Amino acid sequence: MTSTRTRTRISKAVIPAAGLGTRFLPATKATPKEMLPVVDKPAIQYVVEEAVAAQLSDVLMVTGRNKRPLEDHFDRNYELEEALSRKGDDSRLARVRESSDLATMHYVRQGDPRGLGHAVLCAEPHVGDQPFAVLLGDDLIDPRDPLLPRMIDVQEQYGGSVVALMEVDPSSIHLYGSAAIVPTAHSDVVRVTDLVEKPKAAHAPSNYAVIGRYVLDPGVFEVLKKTQPGQGGEIQLTDALRELAHQETVAGPVHGVVFTGRRYDTGDRGDYLRAIVRLACEREDLGPDFRAWLRSYVDEEMQE
Ligand code: UTP
Repeated sequence: MTSTRTRTRISKAVIPAAGLGTRFLPATKATPKEMLPVVDKPAIQYVVEEAVAAQLSDVLMVTGRNKRPLEDHFDRNYELEEALSRKGDDSRLARVRESSDLATMHYVRQGDPRGLGHAVLCAEPHVGDQPFAVLLGDDLIDPRDPLLPRMIDVQEQYGGSVVALMEVDPSSIHLYGSAAIVPTAHSDVVRVTDLVEKPKAAHAPSNYAVIGRYVLDPGVFEVLKKTQPGQGGEIQLTDALRELAHQETVAGPVHGVVFTGRRYDTGDRGDYLRAIVRLACEREDLGPDFRAWLRSYVDEEMQE
């Protein structure tokens, strides 16, 4: 590490949620995809809960058009609270208040959705000069398989930036950033030496895909300012991280934490459906009935 910053425990989380969500049209025409419900909570609430569970109590959400539902969800709704309170419906009242009591929420607007890298750059004035976490607003990590605390530990140990990696089937690597890696002394930590955004399988440096959690050195902002639009004409965070991986003197090395837990990409329709089925099956209140129905549905399908 070249920096002389005083170290404090990472406390800021940035959640980009300003993408167009085109894979989910028309549902996302007037609603951010991060607000789509996963069982009975919007996807974004799971993500904020994960940040809070990792002691990141200061949350900056990067929003765009249709930002109102996101802000409203994490704000008080006095009319609704009043109505539930009058009815004596305490459990629903508690559910309504959960999201507004979670964290200190801040918002910044991206304007044009010019890519994930650009969304992260919008966080610079809020983040300042300390390392910070980035959680993609449509990527859910199962709370039983915590990932961020390990990434924060690795960042504190090695400095620089840390990405989350997951081994995927070679046929899916074109959907992700792919990392060239070398092992470290820890079996779940690798050094990232190169990154390629959405490569064809034949050109992918590995089957280790970058998923939606990052712990970044603030030096990434200077690199992002110079990053030209890449894949899809968007300013890619992967391209800036690649620069950091190549020139570690700029802002430290890039490491990867290899994640083997449960993850759901709710921006993808198939994964979104799988997330709902799995989480509904596991719920104490809904699970027993839903699992029984699902079993009979699958039996019927098998007979056809
Ligand atoms: P995605 O590429 O999955 O989001 O970005 P998208 O562009 O909304 O999706 P599709 O492909 O059109 O369906 C990953 C995350 O980064 C955010 C998105 O909101 C999502 O949470 N993002 C992406 C931004 O905040 N700004 C952008 O310019 C792009």
